[in-house]
Amino acid sequence: MKTNYEMIHAQLRALAAEDGWYVPLMANASALLYEALPDLNWAGFYLYHGGQLVLGPFQGKTACIHIAPGRGVCGTALSEDRTMLVPNVHEFPGHIACDSASNSEIVVPVHAGGQVAAVLDIDSPLLNRFSDEDLAGLESFVRILEKVIAFDL
Ligand code: SME
Repeated sequence: MKTNYEMIHAQLRALAAEDGWYVPLMANASALLYEALPDLNWAGFYLYHGGQLVLGPFQGKTACIHIAPGRGVCGTALSEDRTMLVPNVHEFPGHIACDSASNSEIVVPVHAGGQVAAVLDIDSPLLNRFSDEDLAGLESFVRILEKVIAFDL
């Protein structure tokens, strides 16, 4: 599945040029990814706030609001500070099934001031939806976001 990540990155930069505050930027970043990547059922952010992950701007069905560090794919990405590419979420110990349609998932930590400030979570109804190319494209997306976003958590 070929996705034009260069175009998506350019669109993110254009959105950030208008306003870098995390609320509108994360809202539009989720909408951008949800629109541009085929076969998704959820795309959005969890914010690290008060010692846990709390639901942030997203596209898709209503989702669980709080995720403890180390729990599920998102909590593991937070605790281990690394991208999690999960080809089959049903084989991931402790996966949190917010939307039963999800079969594969990728989660990328977003940093601010040298710490994880949020995670980008993208879910697909397809098994094995995310390739190494998606991983590279989404990590670059987050690196751009980290440079332009303004948090006041
Ligand atoms: N699947 C995530 C939970 C968040 S929802 O998918 C939106 C997880 O296990 O971390």
